Amino acid sequence: MTGEELYERAVAVSQRAYAPYSNYLVGAAVETRDGRVFEGVNVENAAYPLGVCAEKSAIVKAVSEGYGPGEIAAIGITASPCGGCRQWLTEFRVERITFRNSAGDLVSYSPSDLLPDTWDLPE
Ligand code: THU
Repeated sequence: MTGEELYERAVAVSQRAYAPYSNYLVGAAVETRDGRVFEGVNVENAAYPLGVCAEKSAIVKAVSEGYGPGEIAAIGITASPCGGCRQWLTEFRVERITFRNSAGDLVSYSPSDLLPDTWDLPE
């Protein structure tokens, strides 16, 4: 799937977001190396910090179906990923990350573009 196709899947699924507090609907769609697609949305909570981002919910779905780091090839997101999600995208080595930037352009990056000189747990 192209970055644009994955992004369009994210746009479609964003309608299912549960975001009654921010009213900011986010969708994400990940594609595994063997071609499966898992979608996620942001899910908020009245206790605000407990909310989950769309990227994380899509990755969680893939992981619960048996996929691990290096097995998720790409993600499309309706928003630029937040700092915490960038750390998740780095952990799972999601090679191509596509979203529409604030200028309105569809852009694709690698995890190291979005989170350079990344932290990792010391051996
Ligand atoms: N949000 C995401 O789902 N992904 C991001 O990368 C940025 C922020 C959500 C969290 C919250 O439900 C809403 O957007 C407003 O911050």
